[in-house]
Amino acid sequence: MTEAPRFTPGPLERDAPFYIAGHRGLAGSALWRALAKAGFTNLVGRASDELDLKDRDATFAFFRETKPRYVVLAAAKVGGIMANNSYPADFLSENLQIQVNVLDAAQQAGVERLLFLGSSCIYPKMAAQPIKEEYLLTGHLEPTNDAYAIAKIAGILQVQAVRRQHHLAWISAMPTNLYGPGDNFSAQGSHVLPALIRRYAEAVADGSETVTNWGTGSPRREFLHVDDMAEACLYLMEHYDGPEQVNVGTGTDVSIAELAGLVADAVGFTGTTKWDTTKPDGTPQKLLDVSKLTDSGWSYRIPLEKGITGTVEWYRLQESVRQ
Ligand SMILES: NC(=O)c1ccc[n+]([C@@H]2O[C@H](COP(=O)([O-])OP(=O)(O)OC[C@H]3O[C@@H](n4cnc5c(N)ncnc54)[C@H](OP(=O)(O)O)[C@@H]3O)[C@@H](O)[C@H]2O)c1
Repeated sequence: MTEAPRFTPGPLERDAPFYIAGHRGLAGSALWRALAKAGFTNLVGRASDELDLKDRDATFAFFRETKPRYVVLAAAKVGGIMANNSYPADFLSENLQIQVNVLDAAQQAGVERLLFLGSSCIYPKMAAQPIKEEYLLTGHLEPTNDAYAIAKIAGILQVQAVRRQHHLAWISAMPTNLYGPGDNFSAQGSHVLPALIRRYAEAVADGSETVTNWGTGSPRREFLHVDDMAEACLYLMEHYDGPEQVNVGTGTDVSIAELAGLVADAVGFTGTTKWDTTKPDGTPQKLLDVSKLTDSGWSYRIPLEKGITGTVEWYRLQESVRQ
């Protein structure tokens, strides 16, 4: 019989070296804030131009030098549908390289607790809703981001394999759509919520009376504030152990039309929203079943309205600095 990894639930040591891979990204920067707030005093981060995690030798040297005891892997090549669909080879190859290098180096360094971040795109396109963890590998993936999803699934499998072979108490978490400070608001490549914020804020700035969005507005999606995600990750590292990935979300969804209404209110847009129904809608609903997380004792705290207001403030601050 295989020996189970040794894990005792409880606080991680606040002065132990804790490496956040991808600490400047949306998820990684929120993790950094949450860990600093929780009292961690030895946080380690490297920008990609200081340490390219695709460089295997450099990654191993970094782990030998810094000897992290804890790691969150939030470094990845990330993008919207357009980018994923246009550059699948890059998304597959770069994410596999980053993951394999970090996970191999962490295993060699004997990292005690590691959390691998994936995303809800790992689940089958036609999965029943809400999506339970056990639906992984039960059907075909959404073709527009299957390359990215396969890389993430390989990461979950590697974490499980390290647990079995090397008995390290590593875990994986799969967040739903994230939003918040640090998000990507660029015209190309941004996700739906930052894209709406940008569009409505620009309409207000330009004095436009109408905003037109893609599709019918009826698809339903789930959104989690990135600060909640970061707290959930720390909670899991201190309380959860097991080979199965854990869904991280709110367990509730909104229609894109409702979301657009919240964004319009938050930016102060009083004009009319139109829907270009010649454009595709995508999957009707994507909602995670988060009962495993909530049963373990953690629930989200930031309501969507409040989170959107804060994100709009952050976006406007960035824009004013840029001008
Ligand atoms: N955004 C979402 O809605 C969402 C939802 C669910 C799950 N996730 C997961 O969360 C993770 C992070 O996503 P994110 O949204 O935070 O992405 P992000 O904002 O684009 O950040 C990605 C980070 O990865 C780093 N990185 C990329 N390539 C690298 C390389 N070759 N070497 C070193 N660092 C590299 C970047 O570093 P530099 O900034 O230094 O270049 C950046 O800080 C991903 O695994 C993603 O699947 C995200």
